[in-house]
Amino acid sequence: MFRDDAPALETRGLTKRYDDGTLAVEGFDLTVPAGAFFGLLGPNGAGKTTLISAICNLIRVTAGEVLIFGEPAASLEARSWVGLAEQDINLDRFLSVRETLVYHGGYFGMPRAEAEQRADEMIDVFDLRAKERVRAPKLSGGQRRRLLLARALMHHPRLVILDEPTAGVDFELRQELWRYIRRLHDEGTTILLTTHYLEEAETLCEEIALIRDGRLIARDSAANLRENYSAATLADVYVKAMAG
Ligand SMILES: Nc1ncnc2c1ncn2[C@@H]1O[C@H](COP(=O)(O)OP(=O)(O)O)[C@@H](O)[C@H]1O
Ligand SMILES: [Mg+2]
Repeated sequence: MFRDDAPALETRGLTKRYDDGTLAVEGFDLTVPAGAFFGLLGPNGAGKTTLISAICNLIRVTAGEVLIFGEPAASLEARSWVGLAEQDINLDRFLSVRETLVYHGGYFGMPRAEAEQRADEMIDVFDLRAKERVRAPKLSGGQRRRLLLARALMHHPRLVILDEPTAGVDFELRQELWRYIRRLHDEGTTILLTTHYLEEAETLCEEIALIRDGRLIARDSAANLRENYSAATLADVYVKAMAG
């Protein structure tokens, strides 16, 4: 059962070693309170996507545990509470925009009529009406990004995870995506995101975790991080933290 007094996410001693021996995440303890707007920052290869994959039960973890609103991440319930927009755009090339959304709803057990209705809503919110019958390969990059986010939201997840949602996205779409994400947060949805846009993280995220070489090195509000690192901006914090 859903408990809103539990943190949205809790990882304890989370460790992932890939089969080839790469230790991508090590002894990761992180708590993200329900309703938070939380940023996960770190350079390429730091382990952000691995961490997210573990949270979303997409990979087998080597050690430790992950709880979503108090339930094990592998449980059906926990999985239904999480919506993920992956870093790599992974849309089925044979499905139209509408089919992509409706099938996703079906996967999460939504009755057909409800899935159709929700798909309609998402199509309007993400301005995809003109493309609803079009298949993914014929969408522009920006339309694919919007569809990816729409799909992640189809089943009304309480924890939305966005892995570099604005990577390689033009200025206008970036503004637009942030507007959607901010609105979600205002509605009470917990947001966990990774981004390389430090200025945006600084304005949007209530709390930020800095991750380097698979380990958590700091976790605080942007203001406290600036103070602790005697830095003027989050970008300065980042440079110091990653060099240290
Ligand atoms: N499937 C995999 N097999 C082996 N190593 C991997 C795999 N996926 C990621 N890695 C490695 O794990 C480390 C963390 O990668 P990743 O989680 O993608 O980092 P980030 O998302 O922060 O850029 C990197 O060294 C990467 O090469
Ligand atoms: Mg990544």
